[in-house]
Amino acid sequence: MKILAIETSCDETAIALLKATGRLNSQTNKPRFKILKNLVSSQISIHRPFGGVVPNLAKREHLKNLPIVFERIASDPYQLKPDLVAVTVGPGLEPALWTGVNFAKEIRHKYFPNIKLLGVNHLEGHLYSFLLSKKTKSSKIFPAISLIVSGGHTILLLMQSLTKTQKLGETRDDAVGEAFDKVARLLNLPYPGGPEIEKLARIGNPNAIAFPRPMIHTKDYDFSFSGLKTSVLYYLRDIQKTEPNIQSSQKFIADVAASFQQAAIDTLITKTIKAAKTFRVKSIMLSGGVAANKTLRKNLKREGERSKMNFFSSIPKFQTDNAVMIGIAAYISHLKKKNRHITAQGNLNL
Ligand code: KG4
Ligand code: ZN
Repeated sequence: MKILAIETSCDETAIALLKATGRLNSQTNKPRFKILKNLVSSQISIHRPFGGVVPNLAKREHLKNLPIVFERIASDPYQLKPDLVAVTVGPGLEPALWTGVNFAKEIRHKYFPNIKLLGVNHLEGHLYSFLLSKKTKSSKIFPAISLIVSGGHTILLLMQSLTKTQKLGETRDDAVGEAFDKVARLLNLPYPGGPEIEKLARIGNPNAIAFPRPMIHTKDYDFSFSGLKTSVLYYLRDIQKTEPNIQSSQKFIADVAASFQQAAIDTLITKTIKAAKTFRVKSIMLSGGVAANKTLRKNLKREGERSKMNFFSSIPKFQTDNAVMIGIAAYISHLKKKNRHITAQGNLNL
């Protein structure tokens, strides 16, 4: 099956073309994907001066970029011949989501009127992106614990199979990516903050400052990151009273970045491993933009392998928003015969 997938939930205009094969509950013929085309047009430089994504600017850029990216995917759309057109319907910024939804309807109507248009949950895109990993061909996967960490979500799930998932917990306030972005802003680092914090953390001391690890030992599987961000704020405010120029020291900024990153990662890893042991799973999956963080990937993989668990995570370019993962989730929805309203749903969840 050939799938044309469109993603515009935030600040990336992305279109991909995939070939999908395989079945849902087959050991020998699992869902597999061949990426035929994959383009992501990032708006980071547009939003950077504002320190975050501005919804109406995102909408304007998507409107401008969608036809350009589509033209680069298919100079002659009639030659494309997809079996399915898929578009992200949520969660995300509604003005941004609408641009993708309307564009998908438009091109489907114009070029592929007999083809089905499927609405995709962006979070399922992150969740199923592990299927890009080559290891899935042979390894035992399920049951698995899946951790989704993005700019808008922090969710822990138990996956019994591709069709049977159960949410164990999620953040009660800020998403972990949001905490990275907000702490980066406190440190005067550019948007998006996650990669900037990671870069600085490499030269900082993760044990320099003992930031709190909220909810790390609670019995549930929920998370909380707003208290951690606030304690970074108070720490910076207090230290500046006695050392007003300290923020100009790169060593100081790097230590704050590394200590914050370690606190955030410790909580994620502790709770994920606790869930993995409690439910005696065979593997751990990590996805979402924050999964691009090497320290998180490395440490979670190491902790999982210590308990003989497999680790699945696609490469970083498929962790941050892209349309390949939307095509993958579309194929799974198609196999499950699941339909969604083709309308922007900003607050959609798993
Ligand atoms: O999944 P994603 O691209 O968009 C959403 O669905 O939200 O995630 C974006 C988030 C941002 O908060 C960004 O700062 C964070 O992922 N991020 C990172 C890294 N790369 C992106 N956080 C920590 N370390 C990174 N290397
Ligand atoms: Zn995302």
